[in-house]
Amino acid sequence: MGMAKILEVREENPRMRTLFLDAAMKASPGQFAMLWIPGLNEKPLSFSYCGEGRVGFTVAKVGPFSEKLSQMKVGELVGVRGPFGNGFKPKWDRIAIVGGGCGAAPLGFLAEELARKGAKVSFVVGAKTKGELLFAERARSAGAEVLVCTDDGSEERKGFATDALKDLLEKGKIDAVCTCGPEIMMRKVFELCEAKGVECQASLERWMKCGFGVCGQCAIDGFLVCKEGPVFPSSKLRRMREFGTLKRDACGLPLKA
Ligand code: FES
Repeated sequence: MGMAKILEVREENPRMRTLFLDAAMKASPGQFAMLWIPGLNEKPLSFSYCGEGRVGFTVAKVGPFSEKLSQMKVGELVGVRGPFGNGFKPKWDRIAIVGGGCGAAPLGFLAEELARKGAKVSFVVGAKTKGELLFAERARSAGAEVLVCTDDGSEERKGFATDALKDLLEKGKIDAVCTCGPEIMMRKVFELCEAKGVECQASLERWMKCGFGVCGQCAIDGFLVCKEGPVFPSSKLRRMREFGTLKRDACGLPLKA
């Protein structure tokens, strides 16, 4: 664990901010770090940027921890340890990335990395309204085909990201799908992929304490999300009964996913 200074705070949309930290970490898209606010809590956050001597984490205000984090200012210190987990490993040429709401945090980074490696990327992003879209422009700048879906129709297609993915899969344009977002959306993404025999990699989220496979807090159907995930391939998703149906709270008691 080290303390890192906040170098920059960037407003990504009205609900979400990125904090850039002065930390030399080498992370791949889908990996996460544990961020610590002294006296409050420690939580896992996906890397949304990783560059020369600095890393970025994108947060929405969803609880006391993320609320406090998103209010922090340049020059303040945050504890950070990691990187942890495995990250996305798509080795295919034609890849769809599907994100929803604040779950899209690691996906702009992923689009950039895949495009840099020469993959043809379709970036499907959904949000409630136009103002809550995340990283659509960033993916476009990286050279991805961007398909936007909003629940209220305020930008491009009215509907869910899964509707746009279904069309892409129907056209047979995709070899593999990477997804991160609400688990119910990822479950649907996985089912669409299964119906077409297309590989799916989904980034799961579970309550975490240690972040590196010791406490057992993050288990899902016998897999440890922090160590064997957070990104799981189709072969493992198929074996998870809790994927898309059940989560557990800090005491291990069941919550609806
Ligand atoms: S968070 Fe401790 S084992 Fe995963």
